[in-house]
Amino acid sequence: MPYTIETSRLIMAPFTDDDLERRVRLANNINVARMVSLMPHPYTRKDAMEWVATHDAGRAAGTDFPFAITLKGDGLVGSIGLHKKGTDDFDLGYWIGEPFWGRGIASEAAQAVMHWAQQHLGLAKATACYFEDNPASGRVLEKAGFVPTGTRGECESKARTEKTNAINMIWLADQQKTR
Ligand SMILES: CC(C)(COP(=O)(O)OP(=O)(O)OC[C@H]1O[C@@H](n2cnc3c(N)ncnc32)[C@H](O)[C@@H]1OP(=O)(O)O)[C@@H](O)C(=O)NCCC(=O)NCCS
Repeated sequence: MPYTIETSRLIMAPFTDDDLERRVRLANNINVARMVSLMPHPYTRKDAMEWVATHDAGRAAGTDFPFAITLKGDGLVGSIGLHKKGTDDFDLGYWIGEPFWGRGIASEAAQAVMHWAQQHLGLAKATACYFEDNPASGRVLEKAGFVPTGTRGECESKARTEKTNAINMIWLADQQKTR
């Protein structure tokens, strides 16, 4: 199975040691951490190294497909991946470093990853969840073919102290064909 995805502006591929410092710098940001589930804050080199050390096993087990997002001609700008969280369904998660927000990067990456997963994993269904104070992420998900389930979300964030409503989203392969 090919594990590199190329779009017009981006390359998505496994994380490398070369991107470690930049990854820690971009991820160690409360504005990123409070929107995602498992990212500790502050985010350290040790956190980054421990997380990447799990990737080969997750891929081999077929439970985790993480990708570093690289902007061509620039470098690492974020992370995206499909992960099984104790259910049979894959959950889509992603973050983009704050200096790169608002340039369509998450949208381009999410659409490409869902297309890759449909082609190479035979993905039929995926879930995602975003906090209601993060409408940009809702828009990214909509553009990647997700729709609201109509139920309140179960998102958690290690970095968030206050309780915040969240919105559950679902992606179904057979609904993509008719879109
Ligand atoms: C959310 C996040 C991934 C967006 O990344 P990005 O690369 O800036 O997103 P894009 O530029 O591809 O698209 C953002 C979309 O949201 C829209 N948007 C931005 N701010 C918005 C707001 N306040 N309300 C509604 N829509 C908004 C943009 O207009 C754009 O939609 P459009 O293409 O239809 O115009 C990024 O801000 C991030 O990493 N945040 C922290 C981590 C995170 O939230 N991860 C997702 C957890 S569910």
